[in-house]
Amino acid sequence: MRFAVFISGRGSNLKAIIEAVQKGQIKGELALVLSSSPKAGGLKFAEEARIKTLIVDPHNYTNPQSVDRDIVIQLKEAKIDLIVLAGYMRLLTPFFVKTYHRQIINVHPSLLPSFKGVSGIKDAFTYGVKVTGVTVHFVDEKMDSGPIILQKAISVSENETLESLGEKIHKVEHEIYPKAIELFVEGKLKVRGRKVQILP
Ligand code: GRF
Repeated sequence: MRFAVFISGRGSNLKAIIEAVQKGQIKGELALVLSSSPKAGGLKFAEEARIKTLIVDPHNYTNPQSVDRDIVIQLKEAKIDLIVLAGYMRLLTPFFVKTYHRQIINVHPSLLPSFKGVSGIKDAFTYGVKVTGVTVHFVDEKMDSGPIILQKAISVSENETLESLGEKIHKVEHEIYPKAIELFVEGKLKVRGRKVQILP
């Protein structure tokens, strides 16, 4: 199975995924890293690992539909079967989501459906939750809303800061996101409605 990782920034999840491929935990080929920005720090991890990179900057297009049409052409050409969003800061168009139905996954830094959106860690921290966490889910047309694959809870301690919570969250992301990709690649995820069953 060939898969692509989409990024926009730092790429710490991309790095964890590359390491999981290198150590044989993920038995698929990471064939492409796509970035929505030429400045994404994560591009360096792809280059170091000699993975093909592609920059599709929405600023060079007139509308989101044409961005996604272009991306789909490139994905078809690269024979990609799974798209892994890792800090990709664009909402995919319905056309894209339909084309790759149940073949797109995302990681979100909260226990969904709480604290959707771009500042999940901060929103949960500010709200004063005692427990937050990480969610890996399939992507559908709405933001942070598809069927849930894996979740892991994290306790917020008495002396927690936003920074320390962020570190805990990212550590868990780097553990459960590769795991979810491993399960997908091995054909162990069965989706029925909103429920994702993990086969033995
Ligand atoms: C992660 O916190 C992820 O949950 C969210 O975006 C962030 C990406 O971080 N969707 P990185 O670029 O992988 O370091």
